Amino acid sequence: MRVYLTGADGMLGTAFSAALRAGPATADWPLYGVSASDFDIADRAAVLTSIEAFRPDVVVHTAAHAIVDDCEVQPALAARVNVGGVRHVAEACRRNGSRLISISSDYVFDGADTPQHGYAEDDLPSPLSVYGMTKLAGERITALLPDHVNVRTSWLFGGGDERLDTVLSVVRAAQRGERARLIHDQFSLPTYTADLAASLLFLLTEGGGVRGTVHLANRGSASWYEVGQYVLRLLGEDVAGELAPEPVSFHQAGFIGGRPRNSTLNTDRMAALGCTLPTWRDAVARFTATLQPTAVATSGGTL
Ligand SMILES: NC(=O)c1ccc[n+]([C@@H]2O[C@H](COP(=O)([O-])OP(=O)(O)OC[C@H]3O[C@@H](n4cnc5c(N)ncnc54)[C@H](OP(=O)(O)O)[C@@H]3O)[C@@H](O)[C@H]2O)c1
Repeated sequence: MRVYLTGADGMLGTAFSAALRAGPATADWPLYGVSASDFDIADRAAVLTSIEAFRPDVVVHTAAHAIVDDCEVQPALAARVNVGGVRHVAEACRRNGSRLISISSDYVFDGADTPQHGYAEDDLPSPLSVYGMTKLAGERITALLPDHVNVRTSWLFGGGDERLDTVLSVVRAAQRGERARLIHDQFSLPTYTADLAASLLFLLTEGGGVRGTVHLANRGSASWYEVGQYVLRLLGEDVAGELAPEPVSFHQAGFIGGRPRNSTLNTDRMAALGCTLPTWRDAVARFTATLQPTAVATSGGTL
């Protein structure tokens, strides 16, 4: 199977490439990954030319402008990338007969009346931010292709940039001897990019017949504050005691774009198809173990 990947240098794109290469069934599949340094996804001609030249069986579209507050202050840019980009990728897939797997977000929901077991795929979206609106618009475009999957996911971690990755930022703050400031009253499903990438491989293999919208995320709703407390416990009891995260309320966070207070996704549809991700605690423990064990400073010395 020939796989074309957008956003290849991003947090999820990097994890997806690694998972594909490591998968026994997929390691030899031709993979062509592109990022912003190759061309702007909003450049229709560039997208069409590149995808048509590779003739993929499937396109995994992860490229996005995914910084919520940036999208709020630059709505035209958000629309160009998150709506225009999907549109061009979808057009290329339609011309080429490629399956399209496109990544969307829990932020298509408003979190105002979250169902007890989380939002299901057919719950009605109502985004609060420019980012959420552009992701929902992208879903609507993708849905016009007969062979499409819109994958909604949430709160990714597992990357290398602490400005984008809360779990990494907690570890790095502890290593500097600083307390992380984390929101305690906003909830979703924290999701490890490596686990999400593995579930995207499921969609390319056993789940090859899946169509429509699916929710894929690690299990267990949490706030980032709760995740931060757990990360510090993994780093050691001393660290957890001395560098306990500072709880910040949703209203104190200084967000520009609106966010759902509780955008927990219901992942039962994919579970029924045989794809269940581990809990976020399991995922956070595995990711934290991959980080360099550099010294963590506490007042009692250095761990
Ligand atoms: N991060 C989250 O918490 C989260 C939660 C729910 C859903 N999602 C969705 O998951 C997907 C992956 O997110 P991520 O966290 O991996 O994002 P990311 O790390 O910011 O990566 C985004 C990728 O898109 C590329 N890109 C950005 N603007 C582009 C443009 N104009 N033209 C071409 N490529 C462009 C970037 O290229 P460069 O690296 O070269 O700039 C990068 O490779 C996105 O669709 C996002 O909306 C993310």
